[in-house]
Amino acid sequence: MSIKKVTITGAAGNIAYSLIFRILSKLPFKATDKINLTLLDIELSQKSLTGLRFEIEDCAFSTLNKIAITADSEKAFDDSDYIIMVGAKPRSKGMERSDLILDNAGIFKSQAETINNVCSSSTKIIVVGNPANTNALILNYNTPKIPNENVTSLMKLDQNRAKSILASKLDKQVEEIHQMIIWGNHSTTQVPDLYNCKVKSLIVDVEESWIYGTFIPKVQKRGGEIIEFRGLSSAASAASAIYDHINILENGSDEWESLGIMTSGEYDITEGLMFSLPLSISENSYKVIPDVNINSKIADLIKLSEKELLKERDIVKQYLP
Ligand code: NAD
Ligand code: LMR
Repeated sequence: MSIKKVTITGAAGNIAYSLIFRILSKLPFKATDKINLTLLDIELSQKSLTGLRFEIEDCAFSTLNKIAITADSEKAFDDSDYIIMVGAKPRSKGMERSDLILDNAGIFKSQAETINNVCSSSTKIIVVGNPANTNALILNYNTPKIPNENVTSLMKLDQNRAKSILASKLDKQVEEIHQMIIWGNHSTTQVPDLYNCKVKSLIVDVEESWIYGTFIPKVQKRGGEIIEFRGLSSAASAASAIYDHINILENGSDEWESLGIMTSGEYDITEGLMFSLPLSISENSYKVIPDVNINSKIADLIKLSEKELLKERDIVKQYLP
């Protein structure tokens, strides 16, 4: 029987409450019969984690081999195959994700150091806690043992949002929309780019005024809109996107995907940033899709997102050894 150890941080929080049940209902991991699930949260949340553990046990999931809850990050990360890093403060109304940067940077640095000590070089890490790309950068810099390509940040939620908004504009099904790209940061500077999108192999044709006046700002601001209406940041949709992200990393995808990865000069983007790029993903490896057509307006927007990530990198430079 094949068993993976999966660790989720911030496990007593809102996203985890959706994510755990989604994962256990149908494992997204390739060739894995069961998981050993370890849930990490701070000391204060251990009582609530105990209640969560009871609920998980009460589901009698056949996909669960063992479950552990802990506030000890060393125990949590020790020998993990997958770590899903959700544990971080979320923003509230009126904040930008980057306002969380110094609150959350310390968490990611210290957890990265532990991961580097207790995990193997094959461990895969997905960063969700905001600002996700810069937290992932901190994590990457502080885990020299783990190859950069094993660390990705969540941009799938943005891609799902963009597909859904375009499908509804065109009165199509989401699965008919192909080649949607998100460039840049998981923030209001992200660049949803539909210029290469196809519906049934035909390039999508929509008015420029809708692209720049509605589509791009709507995707960019969707997280804030949810906070405005729900009073809390997205949780179930974020969990669903994390599930999709794991699934495509493990099993590959026929689609163009967008995940945050460490740049190495592609598309003239500064090296050493966690940046969302168009990727083709096959089982356990990904490649940046080359030679994508970028018009000058989109190129200018991509530069703005790069500039924001450079600024974030500068703010956290003390966390980057
Ligand atoms: P939440 O406040 O409900 O849960 C966060 C949990 O993290 C809490 O239980 C908290 O105790 C825990 N935590 C804090 N510090 C920790 C530490 N050092 N170790 C372990 N656990 C710790 O928040 P949420 O709604 O679940 O969101 C979590 C994060 O995900 C936020 O930063 C949010 O902005 C971000 N987010 C990112 C995306 C994305 O697409 N990248 C989408 C949605 C939310
Ligand atoms: C989102 O995009 O929904 C999350 O990043 C939460 C937020 O702060 O917007």
